[in-house]
Amino acid sequence: MTQVPNITLNNGNTIPQLGFGVFQINPADTAAAVRSALEVGYRHFDTAQMYGNEKEVGEGIRESGVPRDEIFVTSKLNNTFHEPDAARDAFATTLSDLGLDHIDLFLIHWPLPTRYGGDFVSTWQTLIDFAKDGRASAVGVSNFTEDHLERLAAETSLVPAVNQVEIHPYFANNSLRKYNSDHGIVTQAWSPIAQGDVLGEPAIAGIAARVGKSPAQVVLRWHIQRGDVIFPKSVTPKRVQENFAIFDFELDNDAMSAIDALDKGEAGRRSPHPDVFDWVG
Ligand SMILES: NC(=O)c1ccc[n+]([C@@H]2O[C@H](COP(=O)([O-])OP(=O)(O)OC[C@H]3O[C@@H](n4cnc5c(N)ncnc54)[C@H](OP(=O)(O)O)[C@@H]3O)[C@@H](O)[C@H]2O)c1
Repeated sequence: MTQVPNITLNNGNTIPQLGFGVFQINPADTAAAVRSALEVGYRHFDTAQMYGNEKEVGEGIRESGVPRDEIFVTSKLNNTFHEPDAARDAFATTLSDLGLDHIDLFLIHWPLPTRYGGDFVSTWQTLIDFAKDGRASAVGVSNFTEDHLERLAAETSLVPAVNQVEIHPYFANNSLRKYNSDHGIVTQAWSPIAQGDVLGEPAIAGIAARVGKSPAQVVLRWHIQRGDVIFPKSVTPKRVQENFAIFDFELDNDAMSAIDALDKGEAGRRSPHPDVFDWVG
């Protein structure tokens, strides 16, 4: 069976470098999608309160029969629950919805610096408590910029284990990746294939033809060789298998550079900049 590499977090725990994302999977389809992914070999799932499918992720895990301690589960605090009391209630609901007594990783989904009086620090302090009481094996953040991370470093005692941010060939996000790695924060790349939009790039198609892999496999392999953690989403069984089969080939320097060259900088973002993103649904 394929061996997915593990990445070590700053608390000594490990996370599989490849997982399965469940954003935009209909709750009615999620348990089956999770079971199928476990059959293929995925052992890492990325969900969020915002995705509305935590219950079904838990169901899929239980129905699979795969032991809990072989599976890494991440969820994220919804934007509506940044105030400490709300965050505590929401975290308890996440655990009960997933049917778990602890979660492997829990993240602040967005920093929302224009809401809550700009206070994401007390939210972070609250997540630190979840780590201290053992209900979260690790805690981290998502969509945080260097400035947001600097503020956590100045005002709190715990460095996030991960920073989950938008990264794909059109938005390589290299300066933030460097900041993360310089500070012991593992980078997780969300929308790793830009929801499919990068797959028609001639440079990617050319590499795919040369190495005998699909465009998606080439892009996912690019992330793996850069060292980031990824969790592509698919509800298509063939793609779920394809996205897992990325450990039997390597991209050479020319291929890596050709994909690096697709970076459009800020213009390549698909989502608003985290300094202005303020959606609370
Ligand atoms: N923290 C955040 O703010 C944030 C934001 C966005 C995403 N995320 C996380 O990152 C995960 C992945 O991102 P994402 O779901 O936005 O996008 P993605 O994984 O880049 O792309 C998913 C899309 O690509 C298609 N696809 C998947 N594999 C393919 C393949 N081999 N060939 C062709 N098309 C393929 C899927 O279609 P089908 O499903 O129809 O096959 C789906 O439409 C999410 O599920 C979520 O866990 C986090």
